[in-house]
Amino acid sequence: MVARPRRSALYLPGSNPKALAKARELPADAIIFDLEDSVAPDAKPDARERIVAALKEGGFGGRELLIRVNGVHTPWGEADLEAAAAAGPDGVLLPKVDSPGTVMHAARLLRAAPENTRLWAMMETPNAMLNAAAIASIAADPASRLEALVLGLNDLAKETRARLTPGRAAFTPWLATCVAAARAHGCDVIDGVYNDIRDLDGFRAECLQGLEFGFDGKTLIHPSQIDICNETFAPTAAEIAQAKAVIAAFDLPENQAKGVLQIDGRMVELLHQQMAKRTLAIADAIAALHDTKA
Ligand code: COA
Ligand code: MG
Repeated sequence: MVARPRRSALYLPGSNPKALAKARELPADAIIFDLEDSVAPDAKPDARERIVAALKEGGFGGRELLIRVNGVHTPWGEADLEAAAAAGPDGVLLPKVDSPGTVMHAARLLRAAPENTRLWAMMETPNAMLNAAAIASIAADPASRLEALVLGLNDLAKETRARLTPGRAAFTPWLATCVAAARAHGCDVIDGVYNDIRDLDGFRAECLQGLEFGFDGKTLIHPSQIDICNETFAPTAAEIAQAKAVIAAFDLPENQAKGVLQIDGRMVELLHQQMAKRTLAIADAIAALHDTKA
């Protein structure tokens, strides 16, 4: 699969025209137009129309564009999916996924959508934690369109009564479970939001924690969070230099048949060469995304 930067995915309420307009200038890798939690029931039909109009108008550069629909069993879910199928965004973010069946149900309602419209599944219920591997495993079925898991920790805190504290101690088993489920089945996996938009130090620490757990990026709620998130989830200059050194070392004629080498006092195996290739691919993809926006 081609490496796609998904460092930062910014939610914005579909009912907020100012935010919709502003999104065109914001350097998030992905924009999630929300119809679910951030939009009041009476505002949902209007928000749906606004989002479809914004997608039609375009001007978002190479960023990935997603619509977060309401759950299939809510009064709005089917109409949201129908509108999404017609609008053909890069992805549809499906809330409250409990099992593979939730994903397949939505995928069936997206039958008319273009082939490149993918599904991202929100992992935000106790059942999603218990069924994470089964949910991710249906990515193997092309009809599922499934490509990424997205953590929804506010809902998970509500449903489990676990407390969201600095360091997220109660949530760490679930973070790791979702990363393992995603990786076992070739999905990307994106961390949950940080609610305190004024605490940028706390936000940075949580970005770093997500990176260390293996997430590809983080979902965001405010423009002020984008730069820190992009910086944290991008390969650093030192990582890029190290990746180039690893690839160059294995490319030397005398090392072609070797599985393990020493570089500057560290053991480097062929698996590190594969990791290095991914680091460079992501760095190139980030640079290309910026180019298309220029
Ligand atoms: N996307 C795009 N623009 C946003 C934005 C977002 N998520 N959040 C704020 N902005 C814009 C505001 O419209 C405002 O624009 P302006 O300067 O043109 O007036 C500017 O950024 C500054 O906003 P600010 O005054 O700091 O925040 P606010 O009080 O207007 O909004 C929130 C605060 C939390 C209500 C808002 O950030 C928000 O709605 N976030 C997304 C919530 C969401 O989608 N939740 C669902 C997933 S958990
Ligand atoms: Mg939610």
